Amino acid sequence: MEKLCELKDISEGTMKGFSVQEKQILIANVSGNFYAVDAICTHRGGFLPDGKLSNNLVICPVHGTQYDVTNGKVFKNVSTLMKFLTGEATDLNRYDVIIEDDSIFIEL
Ligand code: FES
Repeated sequence: MEKLCELKDISEGTMKGFSVQEKQILIANVSGNFYAVDAICTHRGGFLPDGKLSNNLVICPVHGTQYDVTNGKVFKNVSTLMKFLTGEATDLNRYDVIIEDDSIFIEL
């Protein structure tokens, strides 16, 4: 179990990226619930914490793939043309978030 930060560090409707055991992890606060998924877009490596969080969807800053942070699944993939040219995005890994003593931990 790895400690990432304190609850107050990620306010509602925001997200942050962390480097843990050579992985890049994104933590998002959706309506007071915390979720952890990979921070790197599976399409072409965009850094998702630099994108936008809209409710439960994180939007990649590079080509706009949308992922559901509650389960890591692709919600909206890149366009058909982009798929043809560069391949498509696949689901992110999700991780269990554990809250203890006002701190956020994840299980890798
Ligand atoms: S790198 Fe994220 S959508 Fe292309």
